[in-house]
Amino acid sequence: MKKFFLFLLFSSLVFSCAVSEKNKSSSVSINPFQYSTQKTITCSNGAVVSAHPLASKVGVEILKMGGNAVDAAIATQLALAVVYPNAGNIGGGGFMVARLSDGKLIALDYREMAPGRAHRDMYLNEKGDPMHEKSQEGHLSSGVPGTVAGLFSSHQYAKLPFEKLIQPAIDLAENGFAITEREASSFNALQNDLKNYNTVTPALAKENWKKGDTLIQTDLANTLKRIRDKGQAGFYEGETARLIMEEMKRGNGIITLEDLKNYKAISREPHTFNYKGYKIVGMPMPSSGGLLLNQMMKMIEDRDIGKMGFLSPQAMQLMTEVERRAFADRARYMGDADFYKVPVAMLCSDKYLQERMFNYDPVKATPSSMIQPGKLAGYESEETTHLSVIDKDGNAVAVTTTLNDSYGSKTVVGGAGFFLNDEMDDFSIKPGVPNMYGAVGGEANAIKPGKRMLSSMTPTIVLKDNYPYLVVGTPGGTTIPTSVFQTIVDIIEFNMSTQDAVWKAKFHHQWLPDEIMIERAVPEATREALRKMGYTVKDRGPIGRTEVIKVLPDKKIEAVADVRGDDAAEGW
Ligand code: GLY
Repeated sequence: MKKFFLFLLFSSLVFSCAVSEKNKSSSVSINPFQYSTQKTITCSNGAVVSAHPLASKVGVEILKMGGNAVDAAIATQLALAVVYPNAGNIGGGGFMVARLSDGKLIALDYREMAPGRAHRDMYLNEKGDPMHEKSQEGHLSSGVPGTVAGLFSSHQYAKLPFEKLIQPAIDLAENGFAITEREASSFNALQNDLKNYNTVTPALAKENWKKGDTLIQTDLANTLKRIRDKGQAGFYEGETARLIMEEMKRGNGIITLEDLKNYKAISREPHTFNYKGYKIVGMPMPSSGGLLLNQMMKMIEDRDIGKMGFLSPQAMQLMTEVERRAFADRARYMGDADFYKVPVAMLCSDKYLQERMFNYDPVKATPSSMIQPGKLAGYESEETTHLSVIDKDGNAVAVTTTLNDSYGSKTVVGGAGFFLNDEMDDFSIKPGVPNMYGAVGGEANAIKPGKRMLSSMTPTIVLKDNYPYLVVGTPGGTTIPTSVFQTIVDIIEFNMSTQDAVWKAKFHHQWLPDEIMIERAVPEATREALRKMGYTVKDRGPIGRTEVIKVLPDKKIEAVADVRGDDAAEGW
């Protein structure tokens, strides 16, 4: 009897997911209650790799419906906002790097923005000490969300109507989906924060989530419907904006209706550079990702790292030293270039990067104190998410998007069902003083109204003979640029398979603290050799969740999802 009841429930839910109320043909046919996680695929027509199997499946269904890679990236992001609520979002922000089939390169900035009432010292108490709890959780930690503006701005490069791209997310929110084991434990760990930072009970508020439980998000579905029906104004104006204002009032937040109305995604010139015949296309400021990757790759270019070997002490030492130097520059010079003159050309000039390596010693650690007089740098939140997409015509899209911390500010907009970000913490909350994660900065990344906080997100496309070769990115806070750097070096220099480049061990150095953070899989012999050279080696948990698409010489597409999470590769 119980089985029969479950069967009836299951059939009706699958059916309702496949048939949308607004436009039957617009929704995709996937089973959100029974799905598996595929880590790799080789295919010909297109692929999507993202943090959740259902989101990757949605993206591929959109490709099958005739959408291009941008359509698929939009639909995948929207699906992630439903099925991966700790980082997928409509209340956060992100960056898109794309190469279109006509060769056009795109960098779209939809990073959150400091509200008009924000000011430089807003997270300092009367003694001038930082109040980390205010910049990291609750209403005051949120920047003006950028994601919805970004999705609409990227839609100019898409083929299908927006309502078709958003409908799968609406269906998943309205009818529910079965959560994964990781999600169950993540939701369980969130319950206290939900109580602390919400007055209106959110859909996730429930004790004892278990794998396979259904998550239904009715308020979120209604918000997505308003976006479907009214476009960008369905989020930044009208009912959703009103609900955000009510939430701000309840928690003393400072985002205003004017802030919402004024938010704009910005098309920027991608940050590009050449490396041994490859053209690398990355994100410019306000993400440090493209510039850091440029600096690190150029500092190794003439050192024949390929011969040293993957995870050899020599290669790790060289990569650590260039990571150290790039991150010292990040702390000092990088921020929103619309507000601070970032010396980009100087920082990536050959002359400067050669000089930067003048005190590099291949058998000895260079102490960070010799690179820059020490201001403490450290960790950023690592809960971000990346998706890589390609289609049969060679449109390639890399998107990294975030709420900053896991579940952002932990505040769900009452009645609207989505988490607000806590991205304000990515500013330097007191120039020169590290925030709770240790992220340091100076004037370049100080808070100003309308300014966008410095990011590490590194959505990247590598072109070979002017055609996409790699589409790559990862979450991981400050470890993002170093993970992307290592993945590209693993493939281009160490000739590693895509799978090994994604799955095998990664490490990270960020100037200060002066230590190499290492995944456990790095062999003991390498650690010992590094210690002998003077490095402090520190074990840490998984680094990033890298998603890579590689185009093979016969133009077949290889897509690999990271094994460090529920990430999934889908294609056709
Ligand atoms: N919030 C993480 C980043 O933007 O780098």
